[in-house]
Amino acid sequence: MRRKVSVTGIKPTGIPHLGNYVGAIRLALRLAEEFDACYFIADYHALNVVQEAKQLRHLTYEVAAAWVALGLDPEKVTFYRQSDVPETFELFTILTNLTPKGYMNRAHAYKAAVARKEELRRDPDDGINMGLYDYPILMAADILLFSADVVPVGRDQVQHVEIARDIAAYFNKVYGETLKVPDVHISEAASIPGMDGRKMSKSYDNTIPLFTISSSQLRKLIRRYITDSTPADAPKDADQSGLFQIYREIAAVEDVARVRAQLVEGRMSWGVLKELVFETLDHFLAEPRIHYRQLISHHEQIDALLRAGAEKARPRAQEVMRRVRAAIGVDAASA
Ligand code: TRP
Repeated sequence: MRRKVSVTGIKPTGIPHLGNYVGAIRLALRLAEEFDACYFIADYHALNVVQEAKQLRHLTYEVAAAWVALGLDPEKVTFYRQSDVPETFELFTILTNLTPKGYMNRAHAYKAAVARKEELRRDPDDGINMGLYDYPILMAADILLFSADVVPVGRDQVQHVEIARDIAAYFNKVYGETLKVPDVHISEAASIPGMDGRKMSKSYDNTIPLFTISSSQLRKLIRRYITDSTPADAPKDADQSGLFQIYREIAAVEDVARVRAQLVEGRMSWGVLKELVFETLDHFLAEPRIHYRQLISHHEQIDALLRAGAEKARPRAQEVMRRVRAAIGVDAASA
């Protein structure tokens, strides 16, 4: 029986941080155990923000190395660069013709960008490129090209997957059953609080990086985590604490319950919790760090594994494109 296919894209726009791990990477790795996983570096999606070759190359290596170091096994899954699978861009071109413009006007990322310009009383399209506008269609191409059954994403990407579903359904209505309509798989722990208590995000500059800092820098960073000023021996509101939310995501279930009780009963200070968060994270990262360092100092190994991934990916993509081309009438006449 055909295993179900899980597809997700990883945008190389920033160095991987704890929020990425808890919000997306962890679930995707879990799904990779069970599903036929097609995971890729969405480098062409990054082009609407990263427009410097050196930086894009650098971020691609960092992101790829991070995923493999955290447990993605390139032998078991199909792990590739989006740009190595040109069928994506052929399908994208076809899908643009089936996507109503008004529908793209309503996509969150575009709408938010326009709203920002309007707030600044600037032309609403100022600084907005077509890559941002077409972003959901490119993402639909990624997903539909591999006949995804599920698409694991964080909450912020759910609308994009819904758009992919609608485009697939519309294609099928126009041309007959051709494309698989995927399901969304929402990561429940979609966000954790960053250093300042707001959502951990590169755009807030409040992240806990996974690999770019040493163990002692990690400890220093976590010591700076913002907590309230409850005295060491006073009862603490654990559930309102960003630091405890982080701990809850990374610690073993038994430890979480015990530590929570200690905080609530005023038997643990924030300082001690910080040390626990550091130790838990540092312990978790011990092995991945070694693997990461090894890969990041050998770019050619990363290139080789991504190339091997593209070799697995392309025949699958070509098979779907044969069906799509036949459906739309651009295939050669059969003998
Ligand atoms: N847009 C996604 C993000 O910003 C990345 C992405 C690109 C993706 N193509 C995809 C995710 C296809 C799921 C499926 O995180």
